[in-house]
Amino acid sequence: GRVAVLMGGTSAEREVSLNSGANVLAALQRKGVNAFAVDGIDALIETIRSGEVDRVFNILHGGEGENGVVQGLLEAHGIPYTGPGVMGSALTMDKIRTKQVWQAEGLPTPAFVRLAPGEDVHAAATRLGLPVVVKPSAEGSSVGVSMVETDAELDEAIALAARYHGELLVEQMIIGAEFSVPVVAFDGKPTALPSIRIIPKGRWYDYHAKYIADDTQYICPGNEGADEATIRDLAERAFKAVGLEGWSRVDFMQDAKTGQFYLIEVNTAPGMTSHSLVPKAAAVEGVDYDELCFTILASTVD
Ligand code: DAL
Ligand code: MG
Repeated sequence: GRVAVLMGGTSAEREVSLNSGANVLAALQRKGVNAFAVDGIDALIETIRSGEVDRVFNILHGGEGENGVVQGLLEAHGIPYTGPGVMGSALTMDKIRTKQVWQAEGLPTPAFVRLAPGEDVHAAATRLGLPVVVKPSAEGSSVGVSMVETDAELDEAIALAARYHGELLVEQMIIGAEFSVPVVAFDGKPTALPSIRIIPKGRWYDYHAKYIADDTQYICPGNEGADEATIRDLAERAFKAVGLEGWSRVDFMQDAKTGQFYLIEVNTAPGMTSHSLVPKAAAVEGVDYDELCFTILASTVD
């Protein structure tokens, strides 16, 4: 059948998505898949109307691509697609409610405050204790995120995060190493790939360190022995707790003092650029980029 590689769109992550999408498209074509590019939801609707699409590889980052809207559209037309369904996508696009579900399931995630418009960020930060991380609840690629160490920096952080739609999340900052663990369904069974430890050259793994810098260091597997088993187990449990399917990438911080891993968030259409994490972990498992794309495509739920 014909596979639409859905990319681009209008979210703050448009450029990243176009980059991921071009790579995925080329990989599927090398695998002999009849694949073509579709930029954004309006073009997808056109393509559906024309009856030219049998399956969708969704690599539309952020916004409609990851919040259940595209998934609902495709469900309504009976077109299989990669990645989680409507519920899992909508839930995990919302970092606050994702953390609430993890907490309810007894999974570790940093303490946080949900900040409604007009609520006092200083009181929230006092309650959590500085340093904190301030984020829009529903963005990706670190867009709108600030690390706040002093009370004086809070107002600026809130103003930045508030430029993006939705609620704001004020989260206790975990001091330590950053990790990410891809989970990919092989033959229908969600399986954690090796963890990746991320060592940015600057203070943290921001948009620049993610996509532009060549000096960000990645170590994969990111842990040895029991720690690696623990983080992979947590990733699979976190994936299932929020009802995910197909593939996703689970982000973590590890407290340098206690060694405890904390769940930060999930990405349901994770980056697939040449700098991205999922391809690095798959390569360590002996799955090259083209095979990875083909496996993700094969994991679409019919
Ligand atoms: N949101 C970006 C694309 C990622 O998590 O890889
Ligand atoms: Mg993200």
